[in-house]
Amino acid sequence: VHSRLVLGIETSCDETGAAVMDESGTILGESLHSQKEVHLKTGGIIPTVAQRLHKENIARVVQEALDRSGVFPSQLSAVATTVKPGLALSLGIGLDFSLNLVRRYEKPFIPIHHMEAHALTVRMLHAVDFPFLVLLISGGHALLALARGIDDFLLLGQTLDEAPGDTLDKVARRLSLINHPMCSTLSGGQAIEHLAKEGDRSKFWFRSPMGQHYDCNFSFAGLRNQVTMAICKKEEEEGVQKGKMLSCVNDIAAATLHTVASHIAKRTHRAILFCKAKSLLPQNNPTLVVSGGVASNKYIRETLKIVTDATELQLLCPPSKFCTDNGVMIAWNGVERLKEGKGILSHAEEVTYEPK
Ligand code: KG4
Ligand code: ZN
Repeated sequence: VHSRLVLGIETSCDETGAAVMDESGTILGESLHSQKEVHLKTGGIIPTVAQRLHKENIARVVQEALDRSGVFPSQLSAVATTVKPGLALSLGIGLDFSLNLVRRYEKPFIPIHHMEAHALTVRMLHAVDFPFLVLLISGGHALLALARGIDDFLLLGQTLDEAPGDTLDKVARRLSLINHPMCSTLSGGQAIEHLAKEGDRSKFWFRSPMGQHYDCNFSFAGLRNQVTMAICKKEEEEGVQKGKMLSCVNDIAAATLHTVASHIAKRTHRAILFCKAKSLLPQNNPTLVVSGGVASNKYIRETLKIVTDATELQLLCPPSKFCTDNGVMIAWNGVERLKEGKGILSHAEEVTYEPK
């Protein structure tokens, strides 16, 4: 018996991704086109631009993944595609393309929830059994959830305003780090991580968000406001024009990153204590999985390691390439669903995307 094959397609934000995977989780072929450089230049994602770039690249990306795997569409067992959450215009491109494909080849279709796919990617790499705790931190999300099964997630907390990657990107933009010789090709989060290494965080003090909120939600907008005010004050003191580089960018980066890391760690600690109090985690090898673009930050990982060591949890972070958006994680979610026979639609069924 041949292993079943799944094509995964991702277009929810600014990456056009596709991958062909067999039932064991082996990646047979993949392709990824990132729009990040374009969006870095415009200082943020313009949805119509993202949509156009997905449209220009989707056919090539999917064909590349198929070619690299040596698989023909007729050999696929199913097509799995992100249908939510994400930018409506971006999601629509992946969905339209996928529905054309499944109708043409009469293949089952598996709609995928982007965040669930992020949460489950770790199972492609490690034998992690349910339930486990997951922390997703990216440019679009901050959330804590208990993963109880492939389609069973208990949401413990989420951001009330913006996501940590978004905050770091905005602070980096306010500091004009794109003009910094060492940071011109880095994302905001990467630029801040890089500069923070050389900085002295004690030169600035920012209040840790939500100290009086006894839950597991996140908030980063207030912190961004504090950082912006500190930048304005320094600019005035140093007589530096807005848009020009301050001498203390490293210190601001270090203090900002520290406050972001400690807020994430504190909320995660609360979630762990809650799960322990309610006996929601297994006795044997309780695990925290951290994923999303911001999870590649070493300082944040180290801060989280202090929390998991103190609470005796195993900390698992997939490698960076699997933490950020890609077709592989969608294919893997498709494989998990195919194996459990959950959420599989016939090629003729109506499907719509849900941005939220
Ligand atoms: O998961 P991702 O590729 O895209 C989505 O948000 O869906 O994450 C991108 C975000 C950006 O905001 C970027 O600044 C942030 O992740 N990021 C980082 C690092 N690398 C990427 N933030 C902090 N430290 C990093 N090393
Ligand atoms: Zn994502």
